[in-house]
Amino acid sequence: MSTQQHPGVALITGASSGIGATYAKQLAARGYDLILVARDKARLIALAETLTQRYHTQAQVFPADLTQESDLQRVEALLQHNADITLLLNNAGMSVEGSFLSTDTAQVQNMLALNVVAPTRLAQAAGRAFQARDNGTIINIASVVALMHERFNGAYNATKSFLLMLTRAMQTELAGSKVRIQAVLPGLTRTEIFDRAGMSVTAIPAEMLMEVDTLVEAALAGLAQGELVTIPTLENYGLWQEYDQARSAMLPFLSLSQSASRYRQQ
Ligand SMILES: NC(=O)c1ccc[n+]([C@@H]2O[C@H](COP(=O)([O-])OP(=O)(O)OC[C@H]3O[C@@H](n4cnc5c(N)ncnc54)[C@H](OP(=O)(O)O)[C@@H]3O)[C@@H](O)[C@H]2O)c1
Repeated sequence: MSTQQHPGVALITGASSGIGATYAKQLAARGYDLILVARDKARLIALAETLTQRYHTQAQVFPADLTQESDLQRVEALLQHNADITLLLNNAGMSVEGSFLSTDTAQVQNMLALNVVAPTRLAQAAGRAFQARDNGTIINIASVVALMHERFNGAYNATKSFLLMLTRAMQTELAGSKVRIQAVLPGLTRTEIFDRAGMSVTAIPAEMLMEVDTLVEAALAGLAQGELVTIPTLENYGLWQEYDQARSAMLPFLSLSQSASRYRQQ
């Protein structure tokens, strides 16, 4: 439970490296206690020890493979029953190399389990628990590729569009409450995700690659400023607002009894 002095416990998925490990550090610096979730127990223990020493935080490790039903259920149960948890960072994710049609089907399936099924289940568990307490924050790590179909792997991009849509729908559903839901859309960020997918981070032009500390600092600043969708690279936020307004402008015309005149017989 959070108090004025203590913001509560943050449960972070994918906490063993990259963006998740960096959130762990920056949230510990802001006074959060932590539950660190990922598969690599040794790395989680090493991170927990470092953060405990540096920030005097309570950091619990919770090894889990979020593509496995039994492990996913254990994390859901934590979110349901541990009332000290005030923040869920839905961050664990993977990418795949190459185009959609050339990607191994089993890898795509695994990616859907990790990038779509797991964050959906955890967002639902946390959303219900936070709604009941009328308090709590969910951060969903999507990606700028949620807004792109021109580049990279279509299935990966689609997992991130899914998370953006889910976030926005949950924001509407919880609008009257004190529960906060933020979508973060990072651009290319220097982490292990590229190596893990068999790609090389050195192939990315330096001006297109953000350092992970910069990314997380910006994302937490966006959260503090009350943003619902944070795009850390985007200088002109009005571009996102215009895009979203164009989407809203279509809403009254999307479900009607009549087809558009161009489809009717002349
Ligand atoms: N880096 C970028 O350019 C970028 C851009 C936009 C969005 N993102 C998103 O940011 C998120 C974090 O990625 P990252 O860049 O920080 O990559 P990363 O360094 O590879 O971190 C991925 C994290 O997910 C965990 N993970 C992987 N498979 C898992 C599984 N089956 N069960 C539980 N945890 C698992 C990994 O830990 P274990 O191996 O220990 O399980 C690791 O902690 C992802 O959702 C990614 O899509 C990244």
